[in-house]
Amino acid sequence: MRKKPVTGEYFLIFRATALNLSAACAIVLAMVDTQHPDEAPCSNAGAERKAPEPCTIVIFGASGDLTARKLIPALYHLCKDKMMPPTFRIVGFARREKTDESWRQELRAALDQFSRSKPVDETVWKDFAANVFYCRGDLADAAAYNKLEEMLTSFGSGPLRENLLFYLATQPSQFGQVVEELHRASLLHKDGVGWQRIVVEKPFGHDLASAHALNNELTRYAHESQVCRIDHYLGKETVANILMFRFSNSIFEKLWNRNSVDHVQITISETLGVGERGGYYEEAGALRDMAQNHMLQVLSLIAMEPPVSLEAESVRDEKVKLLKSIRPLAPADVAKQVVRGQYFAGAVNGQPRPGYRQETKVKTDSNVETYVAIKLFIDNWRWSGVPFYLRTGKNLPMSASEVRIQFRPTPNVLFAAQCGNHLDANALTLRLQPNEGISLRFNGKVPGMSLGVRPVRMHFSYDAEFGAYTPEAYERLLLEAIAGDATLFIRRDEVETAWQIVDSIRAGWQGKALTNREFYAAGTWGPIAADDLLAQLGHAWHEPLVIK
Ligand code: BG6
Repeated sequence: MRKKPVTGEYFLIFRATALNLSAACAIVLAMVDTQHPDEAPCSNAGAERKAPEPCTIVIFGASGDLTARKLIPALYHLCKDKMMPPTFRIVGFARREKTDESWRQELRAALDQFSRSKPVDETVWKDFAANVFYCRGDLADAAAYNKLEEMLTSFGSGPLRENLLFYLATQPSQFGQVVEELHRASLLHKDGVGWQRIVVEKPFGHDLASAHALNNELTRYAHESQVCRIDHYLGKETVANILMFRFSNSIFEKLWNRNSVDHVQITISETLGVGERGGYYEEAGALRDMAQNHMLQVLSLIAMEPPVSLEAESVRDEKVKLLKSIRPLAPADVAKQVVRGQYFAGAVNGQPRPGYRQETKVKTDSNVETYVAIKLFIDNWRWSGVPFYLRTGKNLPMSASEVRIQFRPTPNVLFAAQCGNHLDANALTLRLQPNEGISLRFNGKVPGMSLGVRPVRMHFSYDAEFGAYTPEAYERLLLEAIAGDATLFIRRDEVETAWQIVDSIRAGWQGKALTNREFYAAGTWGPIAADDLLAQLGHAWHEPLVIK
C-alpha cells in the first residue's frame, strides 16, 4: 500500500521504468498521492525483454566468497524471474575437491543465507540446481582446461558449447593465463561460432601502466567487445536511473549546467572499517578502491552530455569524453584540491573501532588513505567553473551514497529584511542508497502572519512508489553480460582515463607521509582539511539525507 504524504511534505511521484534504459519512456510528475490515469506507465514500461540465447556460464574461482554471496544468488533470482535463457548451464571451476552434488549443497546453504528473497523457492531451486556442475581444476594446469572443454562438449554441440560466459572471479594476475588456456583449449575465439565473453572485476590494475598491460592480456584472444569489466555501482537501480532522470525530464535538464548549478557533491560514505581486508586495502587505499571506479563512474553519468542513442558505444563515448574533460591535476594542485585521511581509533554509532594502523595486515606506520575528498573541475562548455566535490571514506558516521546538485541562490533582494542575508539555495539530491530516491529542496513561507521562510523538501521514494522490488546489482550485470549489452560495462579507454586521473593524484602524494591534519577519528566525517577544501569557495559538505 502506498504511504500517505507526511504533513508538510509533498511527495513527488516519479513514474518511469529505470530497469531497462533502452525502454525510453515518459515521466509524469504529480504532487498528489494517487495514481492519475494520465500517469499510466509508458508503453514500454515493464515490457518483456527478449530471452537471451542459451549459453553456459563458467565461474573461475568458484569456491570464493563472491560466488556464494553474489553470483549464485543473482543467477538463481534471474531464474526465478524467468530472465535466464531457456536453456543454460552453470559450471564452477576451482581447485577444491567437490562433486556436482556437494557443490550444489554448498550453494544451497549459501542461498539460504544470502538470497534477497527468503525462503528459497524449492521448485525454482530444483530446476536451477539441475543445471549446475562442478569442474575441479587448477588455473595453471593446461589439462584442467581440456577437462572443462570435454564437460562443455558433453552438453551438446550447439549453443551450450559455443555461447560461453567466463566469469573470472580470480586474482587479476591470473587473468592472462586463464584467457590463454581457454583459447588453447578451443573455448575462446576472437571470431568463430557462437559468442564467448569474459567478465572481470576490479581492481583493473593499480595504475595506468598495469591497467594497460592487463587490458592487453585480456584482449590477446578476445576483442574488446568480448570483455565485460564490472563496476557493481553501474548495476544499481538508482545509478541506472541517472540517465533516465537526466534525459527525460526537461525541467531538470534545462538547469543542468554552469548557469544554474553552483556546485555538485558526490558522497559515498561507509560505516565499516577495512575489517579483514587490510592486506588488500594496503595496496589499494580509498582512491584506488572507490574513486578510480565507483565515484568517477557516478560523476561521468551525472555530468556527461546526452548520448546520440542508448547504444553501448554512444553512452560510453560520452562517459570517456567527460572523463577526458576533467582538468588535469599537477602535483601542486593536488595539495590544494585533494584531501586524504586515515582513521584512528574511535566509535561508529557507539561501537568502538580500532585505528587503521591497528587493523590486521596493516603496517603500523601505514600512510594509506581510508578517506579521500577531491575538488575537480570539468573544462567543457557545460560545466566550466563549477566545482565537483567527491568524497568517500571508511568508518564514517553513516553509510550512504548520494549526489547533491546545489543550485545557485537567487538574488536576496526581496526577503533580506525579514529573513536575513541567508536564503537557502535549492538543491536536488539523488539518494543512491539507502532510502533510494530523489529529493528536491526549496524555500517555502512558514504559515502565519509574518514572512518567515524555511527550506522544505519533496521526496520521491522508490519503496513508496514501486514497492520493495530492487534487483541486486549482480542480477542486472550478469543478465546484460549474457545478453551481450555492453552499456553497463567499463570500456578499456574509460578505465585507462580514470587511472590517468588517479595516477596524477598519487603523484602529488608521492613520498609524503600523512600529517596530523590528515587523521580523523573513526565515527567522524573525515579530517578537518576536507571541510577547509570546500570552505575555500564558501561551500560546506552536506550530510547525506536521512528519510524517516
Ligand atoms: C567495493 C569496495 O568496490 O565497494 C569496498 O572494494 C566497498 O571497499 C564497496 O565497501 C562499497 O559498495 P556498496 O555497494 O556497499 O556501496
